[in-house]
Amino acid sequence: MSSSSNPVRQPVRRHSKGRLALFDLVEATAAALGGRRLYAWRWLAPSRLTLREERVELPPELDLQGRPRVRIAQLSDLHAGSLFDAASLEPVIDRVLAARPDVVVVTGDFIAHEIEAGVALGEPLGRLARAAPLGAFAVFGNHDYRGRREQALVQELAPRGWTFLRNAAARLGSLPLWISGVEDPEEGRLVDPEAARETIPAHAAEVCLCHNPSAAPGLVRTGCLAVLSGHTHGRQLDLPLLRTLGPRHPGTRVQLGPTRLVVSRGLGVVGAPLRWRAPAEVVLLDLVPAG
Ligand SMILES: [Fe+2]
Ligand SMILES: [Fe+2]
Repeated sequence: MSSSSNPVRQPVRRHSKGRLALFDLVEATAAALGGRRLYAWRWLAPSRLTLREERVELPPELDLQGRPRVRIAQLSDLHAGSLFDAASLEPVIDRVLAARPDVVVVTGDFIAHEIEAGVALGEPLGRLARAAPLGAFAVFGNHDYRGRREQALVQELAPRGWTFLRNAAARLGSLPLWISGVEDPEEGRLVDPEAARETIPAHAAEVCLCHNPSAAPGLVRTGCLAVLSGHTHGRQLDLPLLRTLGPRHPGTRVQLGPTRLVVSRGLGVVGAPLRWRAPAEVVLLDLVPAG
């Protein structure tokens, strides 16, 4: 698929060197002052983490084989690094497991800067995958390609039960439901929604993982019930001027014809360990019978 005809490919955003240096300085200073523990206490503690419930109806003919629903827990934008580590993630995993998801997904940006910080999340993410009876699936976000070392995350997490959907799809057990995923629309070398979907029968029910929500309109089609994205952090600091520093945020729930776009505000942060009007969250998407 050529880039000119690719409906999913997005232009690469690049900050100036000065702005990047400022971000790094803020992050390093915050980390030195205990920002990681403060952030975990304020936003990720069991009593504070937001679990946002979303609900999408399945086609009437779809047989859930006796299940009342299929629950997908979506984690996004962990940004492991100096402000988020495995200890930050542990209480989040506890909350998610208590919600008894059937499927767990990560919609990219495992890391802030260094791939080793993402690899260090292996144990809690493995615990999460083992508790999801219909599987654990992930796509990469723009940060994850730093140094083109994203394969290190696959090597750590695949043996722990995670399937990376790199322009690929998988069926959820024996259910007539597929989950697809595309490489990050900005930084992925090859972004190919057609390849991602070639194993899905025409008009079959599908949930698509795509880190960048700006690409969602290019993924809309009959049968695609939802696109799950992250990337925007819900603007992270939803204040005048500051909100324009991040990527375009289309909203947390947008109906695009037959397809629902669900945008997670994510779990971690970049730059300052602060959020304003954009709580850290896990999305619980329930796929429920029609009516
Ligand atoms: Fe992010
Ligand atoms: Fe991102």
